Amino acid sequence: MSDPGLRSSSSALASAGQSGRSSAPRYEGTTKTLAAAVLLCAVFGFTAGPRVLAWCAAGAAQTGPTRSVWDRVYSKDQADRGDAVYQQECTRCHNQGPTTGVTFMNIWNGRTADDLFQMVKNTMPQDGPGRLTRKNYIDLLAYTFKANEFPAGDAELTAESEQLQGIRIEPKGGSK
Ligand code: HEC
Repeated sequence: MSDPGLRSSSSALASAGQSGRSSAPRYEGTTKTLAAAVLLCAVFGFTAGPRVLAWCAAGAAQTGPTRSVWDRVYSKDQADRGDAVYQQECTRCHNQGPTTGVTFMNIWNGRTADDLFQMVKNTMPQDGPGRLTRKNYIDLLAYTFKANEFPAGDAELTAESEQLQGIRIEPKGGSK
C-alpha cells in the first residue's frame, strides 16, 4: 500500500482513539482528568518537550494495559467468523488480506486492541464506515490477530472498550 494511504489512515486512527477514550463510561470523576491528560498527550505528545513526554509515559504506565495480544485473547471460531466477514466486506479493496508483520507493528506497536477496533469501526469499510454490526467488527479484529499469528485461546474477544483497552499490541517478547 502506498505511503499517502497509510498517512491518512493514521489520522483517522488518531481521532478513532480519542473518541474511544472520551466515550468510555468508566471515565467519570477523577478518571475524567486522566482521560483528558491522555488525550492531551496523544495530541501534543509529538511536539512537547522531554518533561511532558516523560509525564505522559508515566501516566501511560500507571493505567496501561495488563495483557497483550500474545495472551490468547480471541478464539479460533471467532477468527473464522471474522474471516468470512473479511472475504465479504474487505477483500474487494484489501485483496491481500489484513496488514501483517512488520508493517502492522510499525502502525500498531504500543497501541491497544481498542485503538485498532475503533479505527476499523469508524473508518472501514471505506465506502460505508460503521455499516457492519459490532459483532462483525470484533470478529474482524480476531481475524486480524489470527492473520498476525497471535495465538488463539478458549475465550472470545468482546466488543467492550474496557476489555480491549487492556490488551496491548506488541511484538512477541514485548516492545523493545
Ligand atoms: C472501498 C475500499 C475499501 C474497503 C471495502 C475496505 N477498505 Fe480498509 N482501507 C481502504 C484504503 C484505501 C485504506 C488506506 C487509506 C486510508 O487509510 O484511508 C484502508 C486502510 C485500512 C486499514 C489501515 C491500514 C492497514 O492496512 O492496516 C485497515 C486496518 C483496514 N483498512 C481494514 C479494513 C477492513 C477490516 C475492511 C472490511 C470491513 C476494510 N478495510 C474495507 C479501502 C477499503
